[in-house]
Amino acid sequence: MNDTDGTWKTVPWNQRKFHRKAKKQCNHVAVNQECYISAKPVQFHLNQISCKVKELCGSTFCAEFLAALHNAFGNERHVKEIVCYALGTPTESKSSAYQLAMLAIIRQFLADIDKLSTMCEIKEFMEYFSKSFLRKKDVVLENVKCSLFDPVFTMQDRKLINDLSMDVLKENEEGRREATDETLFYMIHSDKWITNNLLWKNWSTENLNNLLVVGNSFMSIYERTPSSYLKADYKYLYLVNELDLYSEIQLPVYKYKEDTFNDTSVLWFPAKKLILAEAELRKSYQENCPTYSE
Ligand SMILES: C[S@@+](CC[C@H](N)C(=O)[O-])C[C@H]1O[C@@H](n2cnc3c(N)ncnc32)[C@H](O)[C@@H]1O
Repeated sequence: MNDTDGTWKTVPWNQRKFHRKAKKQCNHVAVNQECYISAKPVQFHLNQISCKVKELCGSTFCAEFLAALHNAFGNERHVKEIVCYALGTPTESKSSAYQLAMLAIIRQFLADIDKLSTMCEIKEFMEYFSKSFLRKKDVVLENVKCSLFDPVFTMQDRKLINDLSMDVLKENEEGRREATDETLFYMIHSDKWITNNLLWKNWSTENLNNLLVVGNSFMSIYERTPSSYLKADYKYLYLVNELDLYSEIQLPVYKYKEDTFNDTSVLWFPAKKLILAEAELRKSYQENCPTYSE
């Protein structure tokens, strides 16, 4: 349409192409030269998470995941806080979106864990949660604080996370967070150095006992990585195996999105094991924060 006289006019081919290109680029809004954010409304991403919550809640994978968390910490211990590192960008990556959906399920599960001990109760919880997710803000959630950090988070990711009543950490802790209370570290497919920093920061019987980790399988790491390499570069990760400090439940693969939770385990540090290694723990600790060659 011609703007000035209201008559139709053929648009030259090169202008049409330019127009299409410009429209495509409109899906991204420039924030600065290096960083682009997806311009889809946050409601779109919330709906995506909601679909994934429903899908996961209908799976045996999710039931086994929650049962593993229950077995690791049992009824006596309660997770007070969840810290998530290395999620990736949930508004741009499907795997990260699935991991965020699972995090939302886990958070409510941990808030309700006292009432959920049998597999039947866990399945009832999943059914209820998939129906009520985003419809009813459960006050119980306030009992389990949930904070996330990944340097790649976009503004859309941050908004999405906030809309799920979760916080984005202001500081890049690089895994160096002291667990003075029972804390779940949710760090799927994170790099070894983040895990090594976390272990270093909590290298005492009291603190290690407070850690519940969902992350890369330690068993797989020890099987695949030469111990001389681990010893040189990731001392605390190496010592966890050497001193036999940990227990692990390997999670099954999620068959509908196999690269999302593959090689993932629930890991914890039982008091019995830690007490036996108390002297070694004290002896091996070095005050200087670990540094890495790569
Ligand atoms: C291998 S990716 C895993 C992403 C996602 N969880 C997945 O499974 O697809 C590792 C992630 O660690 C993040 N990362 C790097 N440094 C970090 C830090 N200091 N704190 C938290 N996350 C970090 C990277 O940005 C990246 O998103």
